[in-house]
Amino acid sequence: MTMLLNFPDPERLAIFREIFAREVPGVALVTPNMDYATEDIRYVFTWLPPGDWAAFPNLEVVFSISAGVDQFKTLPQHISLVKMVDPNNIQRVLDYVLTACLASLRLFPNFADNQRRKTWEPRTVPAISETEVSILGLGAIGEQAALLLKSVGFQVSGWSRSPRNIDGVRCVAGHDGVHELLETADIVVCLLPLTDETRGILSRPFFEQMKQGANLVHVGRGAHCVIPDLAAALESCQVGNAILDVFETEPLPEDDPAWKLKNCLITPHVAGRTDARTAGMNVATNLQRLQEGQPLLWQVDRSKGY
Ligand code: GLV
Repeated sequence: MTMLLNFPDPERLAIFREIFAREVPGVALVTPNMDYATEDIRYVFTWLPPGDWAAFPNLEVVFSISAGVDQFKTLPQHISLVKMVDPNNIQRVLDYVLTACLASLRLFPNFADNQRRKTWEPRTVPAISETEVSILGLGAIGEQAALLLKSVGFQVSGWSRSPRNIDGVRCVAGHDGVHELLETADIVVCLLPLTDETRGILSRPFFEQMKQGANLVHVGRGAHCVIPDLAAALESCQVGNAILDVFETEPLPEDDPAWKLKNCLITPHVAGRTDARTAGMNVATNLQRLQEGQPLLWQVDRSKGY
C-alpha cells in the first residue's frame, strides 16, 4: 500500500511522515521528487491533482488537504474523495468571517479607499444588533459561523441547498430561497462550495437583488464571483463594500481588475490554513479505518460535489 504525499513544503512533509510512520506503519510513503511507479499508488494526499488521473490506474482514495474539493472535478467517480474537516482550520475561517463582518459593518474598505484619496468622510453605521448577516452555505463552517455571529449580537440568516435548522438563525433552503435572504441582508457572506450550481452565483442579478448598499464578504471560491459584475455593483454603490479572500486565478495576477475594485479589501486566500498535525491525523484515522474495513469519514458525495 503506497501513498503519494503530493506536497512541496518540507516542513509539512516532515510532520506527515512522522504521523503516518507512527499511526499507519504499513503504508509506504512517496513524495513527488522520489522515483516511484504510479501503478503502486493507492492513496494520494494533496491540494491539487498530481497530474493526469489516468496515470494512477490503482488509485483508491484521494485525501484533500482542503475543505473545498472543486479542484477534483475530473477525478473518476469510482475513486473515493475525502475532504478535510479540520477544527483548527474551521476556527481560523470563523475568526476571519467575524473580523470581515465587523470591518464590513464599520466600512473599513470604504475608509481605506478614502484614505488613499486623503478624504475625510465620516458616516454613521447601524449597530451590530441592527445588522443582518446572511450566510450562503450552512455546511460545517457555515453553521458555526452563523452561531458565532449570532453570539456577537448580529441578526443571522442562512441559505443552504437542503433544509437546515439552526437555533436562532433564520434558515431558508432550495434554489430560490436565496432571493428571500437578499431582500433583508445587510452583509452577505459566501461560504458555498463550488459546484456547477454555484459557479458564477455572485453575478449581476444577485447583486441587483441585494439591498441597496449591502456588503459582500467572499470566502468561498473565486469562480463564484463574476468580477466585472461586482465592479459595476461597487461603482454604482448597489454593493456598499466587499471583502474578498478568493479569486479565480491565485495568486491574483498583477494586471487583474480585482485589484482596482472600489471599496474593496482583498486578502490573499488566508481565511483558513489547514493545520498539518490535525490534517495528518485525519488522514491517518481514515487509513486505519480502511485497514479495519470500516467506512471512510468525511467522504465527499460525488453527485453533489461537496
Ligand atoms: C481552503 O480554501 C479550503 O478549502 O480549505
